Amino acid sequence: MTSIVKIKTKQKADSYEIRIGAGLRNFAGPWAAETASNPAGRIAVISNKKVFGLYGEAAEKSLAGAGFKPLVHLIGDGERYKNLKTLENTLKFLSGSGISRTDTILALGGGVVGDLAGFAAAVYLRGIDFLQVPTTLLSMIDSSVGGKTGINSSFGKNLIGAFYQPRGVLIDTETLTTLPRRELTAGFCEAVKQGAIGGQNLFDKTAAFLESFDRKKLAQKDTEFTLSLASMLAAQVSFKARIVAGDERESVSKMDARSRKILNFGHTFGHALEKVTNYRYFKHGEAVGHGIRFAAELSKNLGLLAQDEVKLLNDVLRRAGTLPPIADIDPLEVFATFKFDKKLINNSLNWILLKRIGEPVIFPHSDIPLAALKSAFKNTARA
Ligand SMILES: NC(=O)c1ccc[n+]([C@@H]2O[C@H](COP(=O)([O-])OP(=O)(O)OC[C@H]3O[C@@H](n4cnc5c(N)ncnc54)[C@H](O)[C@@H]3O)[C@@H](O)[C@H]2O)c1
Ligand SMILES: [Zn+2]
Repeated sequence: MTSIVKIKTKQKADSYEIRIGAGLRNFAGPWAAETASNPAGRIAVISNKKVFGLYGEAAEKSLAGAGFKPLVHLIGDGERYKNLKTLENTLKFLSGSGISRTDTILALGGGVVGDLAGFAAAVYLRGIDFLQVPTTLLSMIDSSVGGKTGINSSFGKNLIGAFYQPRGVLIDTETLTTLPRRELTAGFCEAVKQGAIGGQNLFDKTAAFLESFDRKKLAQKDTEFTLSLASMLAAQVSFKARIVAGDERESVSKMDARSRKILNFGHTFGHALEKVTNYRYFKHGEAVGHGIRFAAELSKNLGLLAQDEVKLLNDVLRRAGTLPPIADIDPLEVFATFKFDKKLINNSLNWILLKRIGEPVIFPHSDIPLAALKSAFKNTARA
C-alpha cells in the first residue's frame, strides 16, 4: 500500500507528490520514469557509502530496468561533508559525466545527502530535475519537504543555499530498519515538534505511534505496524507541506501562527545546545528534543501554557527515546549564544512558544526575564 501526499507550491508546475510505502526503493525506476521530465535520460544518483551499500543496488537495478542510465556519485558521510568542497566535487562529477539539462539528479540518503544534492541540482546548469529518496526519519518528515537546499560554510550552517523543489519524493519505510537508534530518536523528536505546533490530531497520532513503537516490529515488517508508520509519516509530511505552502520562502514579515517560522519550535534552545557543545555531543534532533522541553517550560513560566500540557509533552518526548543529559552544561553559556541565532532578524530574536498544544505563538526574546530562562533550564536539565 502506498500513501500519496500532494505538495502544492505557488508555481503550479513545481507541485509534486510524496509517495510513502514499504519496499518502494525497488520501484525507484518506474517512479523516476513517471516523475522526471525525461524518462530516457541519465540519472545521477548521489548518496554516501553507507546508504548506497545498503540500498544502492536495489535502486540502481530498478532505475536501469526502467530505461535510465544510472551514474553514481558518493559523498562523505556526515554533516562535515555538507560543504563547498563536496559541492564542487559533485558539480565536477556531473559535468565530467556529461549530465545535461534534460537529465536528473536523485538523492539517496539522509538530510546531508538531500540538502547537498538538492543544491547541486539547483545550481548545475541553472537547475536540473531533482528527485529525493530520503532514508532517515528526519529527512522523511522534515528536510525532504519544503524545498530548502544548501550547504554549510565557515560563516554558518545552511547559509549558502536555494529554495528548490524536487519533482518528487519516494519514502521507503523499510529503509528505517537499518537506521541507528539515536537517529530514530532524533527524527522522533522532530515529529513531536511538528505535532506540538501542528494541532491536537497530529500530536495525538504521533503520540499513539510512539506508544506502539517497537524496533522488532520494524525489523519483522509487521504489516499493521508498517501501515501505522506510513500513516504517521503521511500526517507529518502533510503538516509540513501545509505550512510551507502558505509561506514558501519564509517571509520575514509573516509573524502569525501559520508562518514557516513556527517550524523552529524547540530550535532556538536546540541550536544553542549544539553550538556550546561544538556540534559533537548531540544529534540535531536530540538537541531539539531538549529544546521542546525548554520552550514548554518557558511557555509555562510566562503564563502561556498549563502545567498538564507541559507534562503531556514531556511524556510523549520520553517515548521518543533517551536524550544525552544536559545537567553539566552551563546555562549562561547557552543563553549567551541566543544573540547569534540564525533566526535573529533586524537584531531581534523571537521564540516560538506554545499557548496550548497545536497553538504556537511568536514571542520576542526581549520580553523574557532572565529568571524565566534560568528556571526553564533548571527544569529541562532535571528530567
Ligand atoms: N532542508 C531542510 O529543510 C532541512 C530540515 C531539517 C534538517 N536539514 C538538514 O538535514 C541534515 C541532517 O539530516 P539527517 O538527520 O538525515 O542526517 P544524515 O544525513 O547525516 O544521516 C544520519 C546518519 O544516518 C546514516 N543513514 C542514512 N540513512 C540510513 C539508513 N536507512 N540506514 C542506516 N544508516 C542510514 C547516514 O549515513 C548518517 O550517518 C542536516 O544537515 C540538516 O541541516 C535540512
Ligand atoms: Zn530541526
